[in-house]
Amino acid sequence: MQHVSLNNGMTMPSVGLGTYSLRGERCVETVSLALDLGYRLLDTASLYENEAEVAQGIRRSGVARDKIFLTTKLYPPQYAKAAAAIDAALKRMGVDYIDMLMLHHPAGNDVAAYQAIETAIAAGKVRCAGISCYYRSEYETFRSKIGIKPVVVQNEIHPYYQDTDNVRYLQAQGLIVQTWYPLGGRGYTGKLLSDATVVALADKHGVSCAQLILRWDLERGVCVIPGSSSREHLQQNLQIFAFSLDDEDMQALAALERREKHDWY
Ligand SMILES: NC(=O)c1ccc[n+]([C@@H]2O[C@H](COP(=O)([O-])OP(=O)(O)OC[C@H]3O[C@@H](n4cnc5c(N)ncnc54)[C@H](OP(=O)(O)O)[C@@H]3O)[C@@H](O)[C@H]2O)c1
Repeated sequence: MQHVSLNNGMTMPSVGLGTYSLRGERCVETVSLALDLGYRLLDTASLYENEAEVAQGIRRSGVARDKIFLTTKLYPPQYAKAAAAIDAALKRMGVDYIDMLMLHHPAGNDVAAYQAIETAIAAGKVRCAGISCYYRSEYETFRSKIGIKPVVVQNEIHPYYQDTDNVRYLQAQGLIVQTWYPLGGRGYTGKLLSDATVVALADKHGVSCAQLILRWDLERGVCVIPGSSSREHLQQNLQIFAFSLDDEDMQALAALERREKHDWY
């Protein structure tokens, strides 16, 4: 596993498991399997209604809590009572701390919610703060109103929505960019994973199309949290460190940009 350095001195695995569509026992089993296979970052959210199952998967795996980077997120309706929502998340998961707590979306009272995260960091309940779905203009407005700089911004990024200017801007601000929908998101993966350019480059490197796309992210300094419950895919998505893309490959992939967003935020 490779790690990236965060602007607060912590490190974070560059690859993790997205748990958006995992529920119930399937979530517990998949999290436990992923940890067995070597995953060390888990991405959940209050919205996904699976925080308890993710935590149960951690306990089932037997991997020590302090070896795992656990991310969860507050959803806008929770912002008004963020301090209580943080305590509720800790209780739901049965953990003493959350590694990264994100604001899921910009909203009217996101600054107050972020201040509650800062207080939770000072109290040792949270180790670092992240934001999600903040693009340049949202970030600039938000940054001018808060204290501690977030360490990570999680946004939609895939070859059909590369958002290169935003990614470069946010990276230049000292944030690590992490992608949601790295494979295009459910309902779109078929199209992306059969794109002729992606297929040709995957063949060239002897990897799967998903591996090729995830490697493209890493080459751009973008961390990935693909979602999967298949053992084969989970394994594949971790095996992206033994090959690299050259300038020609990167140019061919850059040409796939369509500004095609697959979700509204
Ligand atoms: N912050 C936000 O607003 C936000 C929004 C959306 C998502 N997220 C986070 O981002 C994570 C990733 O998004 P996502 O899971 O919705 O979409 P995704 O990672 O782009 O795509 C997941 C789909 O790809 C398939 N897949 C995974 N690995 C594969 C492989 N190696 N080969 C072929 N197919 C593969 C999965 O099917 P199988 O199960 O069959 O492998 C699943 O259908 C979420 O789980 C969530 O944690 C955050």
